[in-house]
Amino acid sequence: MLARRDILVGMDIGTSNIRVIVGEVATDGAINIIGVGTSPSEGIKKGIIIDLEQTVESISKAAAEAERMVGATIEAANVGIVGAHVGLFTSRGVVAVARDDKEITGQDVERVLQAARVIALPQDREIIDVIPREFIIDDYDGIRDPVGMLGVRLEVEAMVITGSMTSLRNLMRCVNMAGYAVNSLILNSLANGEICLTRDEKELGVFLIDLGGGTTEISLFKGGALQDLAVLPVGGDHITNDLAVGLRTTFELAERLKVEKGVALEQLASSEREIEIEGISGRERRIVSIADLFGFIEPRVMEIMNLCKKEMGRMGYNQMPPGGVVLTGGVSLMKGFSELAGEVLDCSVRVAQPAYLGVKSPIYSTAVGLIHYMYRSQGFRRPGKRQDRGTRGFAYNMWRRIRNFIANIWE
Ligand SMILES: Nc1ncnc2c1ncn2[C@@H]1O[C@H](COP(=O)(O)OP(=O)(O)OP(=O)(O)O)[C@@H](O)[C@H]1O
Ligand SMILES: [Mg+2]
Repeated sequence: MLARRDILVGMDIGTSNIRVIVGEVATDGAINIIGVGTSPSEGIKKGIIIDLEQTVESISKAAAEAERMVGATIEAANVGIVGAHVGLFTSRGVVAVARDDKEITGQDVERVLQAARVIALPQDREIIDVIPREFIIDDYDGIRDPVGMLGVRLEVEAMVITGSMTSLRNLMRCVNMAGYAVNSLILNSLANGEICLTRDEKELGVFLIDLGGGTTEISLFKGGALQDLAVLPVGGDHITNDLAVGLRTTFELAERLKVEKGVALEQLASSEREIEIEGISGRERRIVSIADLFGFIEPRVMEIMNLCKKEMGRMGYNQMPPGGVVLTGGVSLMKGFSELAGEVLDCSVRVAQPAYLGVKSPIYSTAVGLIHYMYRSQGFRRPGKRQDRGTRGFAYNMWRRIRNFIANIWE
């Protein structure tokens, strides 16, 4: 049974696929990926569960595959949440530093974050996470880690992430029904940010776009933290659908053509290569060219990128931030996609993926990111790192609170 503290499981319940990744933390603090399981996602549309039983079955299949690879059973998983029904807002908390010598401890940090959580929430919403943007000690602002500093008054400006109770409950229910406990719920954007972005990009400002099957998730990072996010209900499945309708063929064949031969850039479509495709229900076979595929793919890719641009404008960026744009998710694999995205957004665009053997593809960014995020949050011991109960305290307690929240829901 995989219940040891040095084993972490990431579960990405996506629209196209469910991916379960098992990571092992080595003694030097490095993470090794030791198990990977994938199963087509049957019960999810646009990131939302529409069929409980099918989702449970898909989760079971993906997890069983990962378990076979590892040779042991998984107990609990860190599960990703789509940003669609998530609310982000800024909250402040303030406390007096408790110790007589005025040294700030992990307990003070925990108390001030607790204070930031005291907000009026509608009945159907629940706090998922509270992420400090900056701490302020006696009017000195911009402090990232106040533990060990001296001060009288500790203040925090934090981002509070709330989620819809119904969608969170159903998500956890599926995981539980598949036989796994939910160790934590983590926003997909935060998981992707761990894997796809450099510290500099996050600091300077960068847009991260996760191009999935049913959704396109845009996250803005700046000042080292997530600032905003938006989820568009379009993705790779729409490209497949356009192809299927345009070529008058099945969704399955259109999907295969898209993945194997699809291009989003005209220069790549100039080749005259011809592809023979089957018609639906015994209709005649036909010959199409790569240029024909491009003709159906490009308008949808342009539409997706223009919708992204509009959302970015809404977030206050008509011009791209210094860190540019980073793409991930399955659709970012399409030939010419990043080049076309660069033209639409008029900035540098790169595709990001995990650097681990066996999961080196943008389709694994979220699942691997969940492991990384959790690893950092739990404050795993690293050689040479001061084991401060305080610094561990914040992240660890965040994790504990999520567990409590999960427990409360089931009460
Ligand atoms: N090589 C490729 N070229 C083009 N599209 C691809 C390629 N590989 C995968 N895709 C597309 O990527 C999409 C799946 O991506 P991903 O696995 O990131 O989605 P998901 O996480 O299941 O969905 P979502 O994030 O929307 O819930 C599908 O539409 C698939 O067709
Ligand atoms: Mg996804």
